[in-house]
Amino acid sequence: MTQPALSPRFPNAFAEAVHAGLSKHPQKELPSMYLYDEVGSALFEVITALPEYGVTRAEERVLKDHATDIVAAMPGDIKVAELGSGSGRKTRRILEALCKKQPTAYHPIEISRTALQLCRRELSDIERVSIVGHERDYLAGLSEVSSKRNEGERLLVLFLGSTIGNFARLAATRFLRSIRGMLQPGDALLLGTDLIKPLPTLIAAYDDPIGVTAAFNLNMLARINRELGGEFPLDAFEHVARFNPDARSIEMHLRAKRALSVRVRGADLRAEFREGETIWTESSHKYAAEEVAPIAADAGFDCTHQWRDDEWQFAESLLVAR
Ligand code: AVJ
Repeated sequence: MTQPALSPRFPNAFAEAVHAGLSKHPQKELPSMYLYDEVGSALFEVITALPEYGVTRAEERVLKDHATDIVAAMPGDIKVAELGSGSGRKTRRILEALCKKQPTAYHPIEISRTALQLCRRELSDIERVSIVGHERDYLAGLSEVSSKRNEGERLLVLFLGSTIGNFARLAATRFLRSIRGMLQPGDALLLGTDLIKPLPTLIAAYDDPIGVTAAFNLNMLARINRELGGEFPLDAFEHVARFNPDARSIEMHLRAKRALSVRVRGADLRAEFREGETIWTESSHKYAAEEVAPIAADAGFDCTHQWRDDEWQFAESLLVAR
């Protein structure tokens, strides 16, 4: 007897991740990367404009004030790669400083095609820049950019915005080591890290009074409803931001205000919630400025320079591959 071809259990990686994350015990979780669909990315852009969220402005100040020093710290024929293309606003400073010295190839690496298009639109007016987008995950894209370089070219990899903060500390070191594995000695990584600061400042940055961050977080459930036929009643969940002192991270959670049971057809799942139970959706690890060099060393880099913003503790570190 012939069987009909087995249809895969999940339509896509998001469905699979939702199934796995909401089946976890005792802490349900959803991977933070899924916060950034079109709605989530637009909400994050709004977050960067909030007075309580100083991270992005701090990094913009550092890059505006020190782009020339950063570029001077890396002499030679430079090709730039960026992990995550962002809005392009911060990258502009670096590219403009570089393009004063040499025509520069810029390779943004990003899984979202829309983000790549936006970044091209934002940066293509810079004189002497050529933009080559890579619609790949970070490491696959970086390996491609690194292997296709011209003789004598040094690679400058940008990993800005404190995106590294989404990794737990051990995973962050492992990730830096993977990056190092794709580089040659003398290549460099420019790494943005948000620094530890007083608790009320940190909490307010992730729980703003007009609720943009709450909407950003709740969009995860709305996205499950939109894309996977989920039946989350959004008003039964609330945004929570709390500091985890052991991990030194701000954690975002979504907390069930009452006991409930939720079906998500496209993830082949029914999830039960107790009153007060949370789904962990993101961690943002905070660093001490002195912590970066030893972590970098552990991953095969020398931290040769660090530039800091003192208004909102933030550090940009130049890590040179050994
Ligand atoms: C984009 C990951 C750097 O962790 O600060 C902002 C995301 N989440 N507010 C961060 C975020 C809630 C942001 N990163």
